[in-house]
Amino acid sequence: MQWTIAKASLAQVPVDLIVFPVFQRKDGPDLAPLLQAAGGPPPGARKGKGHGHGDHPDLKGIITAAGFKAAAGTTLPVHCSGVKAGWFLLVGMGKPAEVGLQEIRKAAAAAAKKARAMEAQKVALVVPAAETLGFDDAAIARCWCEGAELALSPVGELKTGKDKPTAPRAWALLADGGRAGALRAGLKEAAAMTAGCLFARELVNLPPNLLTPAALAAKARGMARREGLRCKVLGVPELKKLKMGGLLGVGQGSSHPPRLIVLEYRGSRSARAPKFAFVGKGVTFDSGGISLKPGAGMDEMKADMAGAAGVLGAAVTIARLKLPVNLQVVVPTAENMPDGGAIKPADVLTMASGKTVEVLNTDAEGRLILADGLWFAGRGKPDYLLDMATLTGACVVALGKHFAGIMGNSAELMETLKQAGGETFERVWPLPLVDEHKEIMKGTWGDLQNIGGGREGGALTAAAFLSAFVDDKTSWTHLDIAGPAYQAKGDEACPAGGTGFGARLLARAVQILAG
Ligand code: BES
Ligand code: MN
Ligand code: ZN
Repeated sequence: MQWTIAKASLAQVPVDLIVFPVFQRKDGPDLAPLLQAAGGPPPGARKGKGHGHGDHPDLKGIITAAGFKAAAGTTLPVHCSGVKAGWFLLVGMGKPAEVGLQEIRKAAAAAAKKARAMEAQKVALVVPAAETLGFDDAAIARCWCEGAELALSPVGELKTGKDKPTAPRAWALLADGGRAGALRAGLKEAAAMTAGCLFARELVNLPPNLLTPAALAAKARGMARREGLRCKVLGVPELKKLKMGGLLGVGQGSSHPPRLIVLEYRGSRSARAPKFAFVGKGVTFDSGGISLKPGAGMDEMKADMAGAAGVLGAAVTIARLKLPVNLQVVVPTAENMPDGGAIKPADVLTMASGKTVEVLNTDAEGRLILADGLWFAGRGKPDYLLDMATLTGACVVALGKHFAGIMGNSAELMETLKQAGGETFERVWPLPLVDEHKEIMKGTWGDLQNIGGGREGGALTAAAFLSAFVDDKTSWTHLDIAGPAYQAKGDEACPAGGTGFGARLLARAVQILAG
């Protein structure tokens, strides 16, 4: 989508449609701002009030007759000859007291979807007023743009039919009064945030035959080139040199060999600039391996690289915002398949760190590749180490689809992620990381085993396993995004498929920590 700030007046802006937010008051929709913008008070109002210019239709009568109450997420197109665009698209904001940042996004999403259904080509949007909400203009504009753009992210790109409605190509925020600077700042942030999130969604939505580990590496390389990041991709010979038994082990049952993708963003030359490392799980398809998964729903395991997608997306956003930090992104990527050469239960793998792991279940593969990824990232001595992974079904059972589980050794980092997730609406919820669970993961035939005894606390024992590959002195958090990374059906804010969860979250967390 192409976004600009429109300098033309609302009456003159050369678009097909003007999106206009309407708040709900006790006595009905607050139409005063619209009526004023449309060219003066409605017929019958006292003369001398407002500054009408000529004829205008009885907007208020039309809107009332249509039953529009400005309930959150409702829309109403109304024709208006007083503006060049000809059409307003009213969007209900609900009651001001109930409007948070996500409600702003959702209202914009509803408007954007309606504008697409109306086949508008050029759309201008009036940004909701800060006086009515508890947020500043830049934050409101950011969420307004994010909501519209993220709602229309492409789905079904591989369909050959030509009957899909195409999204409006030109979008403009109307720069009224003194707000232009704030709106521009909000738009700029939104563009960076949505670029990262959409990149993540695109990767998750690609089918696993097209997004193999090598293809994911090629996508990362292309992104790095566009965004000005350094990129290195390690293949099997190099992984062997690094003795990455976890990543090599998981990948050895597939005809698409594993890779380690390493990206580098340098946003500061100062030695004092915070150093971040992200590690993302990049299992391009998780069949379970020899511990094969049941067939039902196995297609969703194409999304088992959503952690990788999220950290790569975050890198896009961080680079575009030019945040004054340094960042390394590490993506171990493999396809988990059953095969004559695949790892099997009872195999003992030697990991890059030197620790040995007894594989008791080949479907607990994420932690095996992350162990090598975390060890690799730890070598760079980051101040903050974050990993993100669709790691356990247990986390989905515990927290559902709307929360990621967060575990780690740093209260500061976990608190920052909670704050960031509240703002971006990628919500996280803390789960415990304790010695008792680390104890459970100790192995009989290796230093560790890759599953706990039973099904209890599966998300927690997985995190306990990972902690064995992280230096205690490094601030580290693990995000289990198995629930929110993917949705079979679309919702108000996001179409079906990958949600891009984590891309905006990590970028926002880095922004907060960068000060
Ligand atoms: N990729 C899955 C976890 C997952 C489940 C992600 C559902 C998204 C939705 C992971 O590799 C896995 O299979 N985990 C096992 C671990 C078990 C064998 C200890 C699980 O959760 O069942
Ligand atoms: Mn698995
Ligand atoms: Zn998996």
